[in-house]
Amino acid sequence: MEEHIVLRDLDIPNIDDIDVYLENGGYETLKRVLADMSPADVTQVVSDSGLRGRGGAGFPTGRKWMFLPQGVYPRYLVVNAAEGEPGTFKDRQIMERNPHQLIEGVILTCYAIEARVAYIYMRGEYLEALSKLQMAIDTARELGFLGDNIHGTDFSCQIYLHREGGAYICGEETALLNSLEGFLGQPRVKPPFPAIQGLYQKPTIINNVETLTNVAPIVERGAEWFRGFGTDRSPGTKVYALSGHVRRPGNYELPMDITLRELIYDYGGGVPGDHQIKGVIPGGVSAPVLTQEHLDITLDFNALQEAGSMLGSGAVMVFDETTDMAWAAHRMMRFFSQESCGKCSPCREGTYMLVNIMTDVMRGTGRTSDIPLLDAIADQILGNTLCPLGDAAAGGPTQSTLNHFRADYEALIRDGKVTIRG
Ligand SMILES: Cc1cc2nc3c(=O)[nH]c(=O)nc-3n(C[C@H](O)[C@H](O)[C@H](O)COP(=O)(O)O)c2cc1C
Ligand code: SF4
Repeated sequence: MEEHIVLRDLDIPNIDDIDVYLENGGYETLKRVLADMSPADVTQVVSDSGLRGRGGAGFPTGRKWMFLPQGVYPRYLVVNAAEGEPGTFKDRQIMERNPHQLIEGVILTCYAIEARVAYIYMRGEYLEALSKLQMAIDTARELGFLGDNIHGTDFSCQIYLHREGGAYICGEETALLNSLEGFLGQPRVKPPFPAIQGLYQKPTIINNVETLTNVAPIVERGAEWFRGFGTDRSPGTKVYALSGHVRRPGNYELPMDITLRELIYDYGGGVPGDHQIKGVIPGGVSAPVLTQEHLDITLDFNALQEAGSMLGSGAVMVFDETTDMAWAAHRMMRFFSQESCGKCSPCREGTYMLVNIMTDVMRGTGRTSDIPLLDAIADQILGNTLCPLGDAAAGGPTQSTLNHFRADYEALIRDGKVTIRG
């Protein structure tokens, strides 16, 4: 990949500086759109490009925008910058190093969906990203790209930053809306979907940071250009956040037809000590674990789903052959149990039971019958929860490790362990 679409900071030093951004064509797309394109034209280009949401579910972005009900105002745009999925750190780099491209994408999206106000819901710990974005918003306003009657048109747009309080569940779009409104951050029942009834019960589009950072380049260079990267069903590039047992962890923006093996070995430098790979999580801890056999799969939405996992946020975590995957599953389940919001009982009680049983296994007090018990509890959670967190906990760390690495559980039960590592 020679050129980056969203991680342009890798090609252009200091692109977070407004002067550098302007020298490199910054805000030209916005000016052209305001002069020549209707909101429907912008939505059509994004729809034709095949851009799919980069926050987890991979929903087609243009199609989501088209769900907005005709003639209902005000409408809102909410930018999901919560980035709480363990292993995910891509939105942070975008916000810290290429903030203006996100802001331009937000303004273009507001224009396309006929919203006048956007809220950026920010992970609370991202202090540098927060100050960079606030600076970018202030500068854009000073230069007349934000505010009332932008560039003499009748289009007005405001962007507000909201710093969140640190709950993983507030990345889920409806919990996020509750939190933004000042209520307890717990998911809402869907339908109605946010596009119909979202923030303050008004039509609302929620998109991820990376998704919106793709908008200005797509509108500038066209849908066909974007479709030149990746696969038919997953066009474009994706920022993969690579971590775990790799020599060069970090964010890699690559076309979505790259394979897991190419990402890990060609870009990540392979596994330290030249160990074999035992497991790989391709999309944050919510995604089921894959194995050595899956290394030639392309890292796109469909291929990963067909392999029994998901692309999720694109956080690729590598576990080498020295890793006890039952131990890793226990660590991940502790996270899910703590972050369960408690609204529905299969998730609240089920994740708690799974952790307790896994803790017994780690302590050497587990029984052979614990393995089918873990599986049965996970089955009771799957499909019975209000939001995807419960399913993620049951299908991800629990069942995928039981399926692929049962021997690790059996060894702990058979040989016994006294301490919980980490
Ligand atoms: C438990 C949970 C946590 C989530 N966390 C995030 C997050 O931190 N950032 C994000 O963009 N999407 C997150 N999502 C997905 C959002 O609900 C939503 O699908 C996404 O923001 C839509 O934007 P997109 O269409 O641009 O991907 C999460 C979903 C769940 C169930
Ligand atoms: S699945 Fe878990 S996190 Fe989601 S609403 Fe139910 S209790 Fe809350």
